[in-house]
Amino acid sequence: MRIGIDFGTSYSAAAAVVDGQLELVRFGDARQFRTAVFFPEVVPNVDDFVLTPALEAQVDAFVRASRLDERQAGRTPRGEMDLRRDAIRVVRRQWMEERTREASASVASFQDALFGEEAVDAYLEEGTGNLIESPKSMFGYKLDPRVRKTIVSIAAHILEHVRLVATRQFGTPVREAVIGRPVEFRSSMGAAGGEQALSILREAARIAGFDEVSFLEEPAAAAMHYHQSLAERQRAIIVDIGGGTTDVAYAELGAGEVPIMHRSWGLPRGGTDLDVGVSLHSFMPRFGKDLSGVPVHHFVEAASVHNLPKQREFRKQDYRLVDEPFGSRLRALQGTGATTRLNQSAERMKIDLSASDEASVTLDFIEAGLKIDAVAGDFRAASEDFLDRMGRLLDQAQADIGEAPASVFLTGGTSRSPQVRERVGASFPGIRVVHGDPSLGVVSGLAQAALLSNSSIASESR
Ligand SMILES: Nc1ncnc2c1ncn2[C@@H]1O[C@H](COP(=O)(O)OP(=O)(O)OP(=O)(O)O)[C@@H](O)[C@H]1O
Ligand SMILES: [Mg+2]
Repeated sequence: MRIGIDFGTSYSAAAAVVDGQLELVRFGDARQFRTAVFFPEVVPNVDDFVLTPALEAQVDAFVRASRLDERQAGRTPRGEMDLRRDAIRVVRRQWMEERTREASASVASFQDALFGEEAVDAYLEEGTGNLIESPKSMFGYKLDPRVRKTIVSIAAHILEHVRLVATRQFGTPVREAVIGRPVEFRSSMGAAGGEQALSILREAARIAGFDEVSFLEEPAAAAMHYHQSLAERQRAIIVDIGGGTTDVAYAELGAGEVPIMHRSWGLPRGGTDLDVGVSLHSFMPRFGKDLSGVPVHHFVEAASVHNLPKQREFRKQDYRLVDEPFGSRLRALQGTGATTRLNQSAERMKIDLSASDEASVTLDFIEAGLKIDAVAGDFRAASEDFLDRMGRLLDQAQADIGEAPASVFLTGGTSRSPQVRERVGASFPGIRVVHGDPSLGVVSGLAQAALLSNSSIASESR
């Protein structure tokens, strides 16, 4: 059976069309799950140490080396038992160190993985282990081979989770998938980042037990979904504003005919950039940004919670000499899980500000009673960069198509924000904007695409 999978930066979902009906895969009670995995740290157990022939040989080598040392130094020779006991102690210690290195660098703890909100909660409660949120954000980054392997394993775990849950729900083995992809992946290597992202997804899908996968651009998938609802043929602009990317397509849809995808445009920015914006604008000044002499890039690193190298960089800094209260707050922010919590607070504030003119959060995990207040103007300042870029992308799309679309179909979690909706409207004045389900537009279209043979979606060159 073939399903559609929306492997989102923030949320993932899956669906299939069964007997003509769209069926969403349910993860517990939910129709999507946060794209996060938690791996509890495997603590190596010294009781697992046994003297294999290879380790025995190492012990013998240590005993021989000690004898030689004694002779050269002219010391009285120690008994064989003593020497051997010391040698075993050294070999055992090395063995433990090796296991510890392997456990933190490898896939050893992958069987115990937790997914979604459960993953984030476990990480915050346990205070140990590894939490990987939004792995999709890293697919297009320059990765050393070891890190790439880890990222592939993480993606494989998420895809396998989806495959097994879907297999259980549909009562038949799920072995094929149409996976959504952004028009432009977040990348540090230009187009090569996009290629790498696809190869990571392909490899991960194979490990996860999929025999065959294909990819469909996310806005084209959303277009497939919109297509189903259109009785008359029309040319429409589809806009999907998600957590990591903003994707646009121009398509000819409706009337039960074959949908034709004319063009697409992508911006590797989304809702997670708004969270970073809120964090830098409203939170970080309370940690000393622009006030303490700590370089601004430290605050960017702390706020970039999905960028593991930046997070590592921030944790390495020494803030013991920074003036109070900033020094203590920065040190608290270096604690396990604190940047994750701060990011959750920034996301909450962003969502609150999309519904009301004021919002506040309390950062008790940093300092008892540390309260941050923000108003609509703060959100405007925090989101200006993203809204400008998004506006330019939409203006470009409008200029490229050179005619007024019949409608604009809007989906993606970030499209819930009235400020974002307003900006979309400004690029297409007088055009009807149709609001799809912000969370399920893409996955519903991917399910349609999974049902149809590839020939049923005509695509022109981009
Ligand atoms: N009311 C709201 N106002 C603003 N943003 C919101 C609101 N509700 C959810 N979001 C944001 O929507 C984003 C998630 O959207 P979505 O699920 O479409 O992304 P995704 O599919 O995981 O990402 P992508 O498609 O970019 O890979 C998050 O950044 C979330 O904070
Ligand atoms: Mg999406």
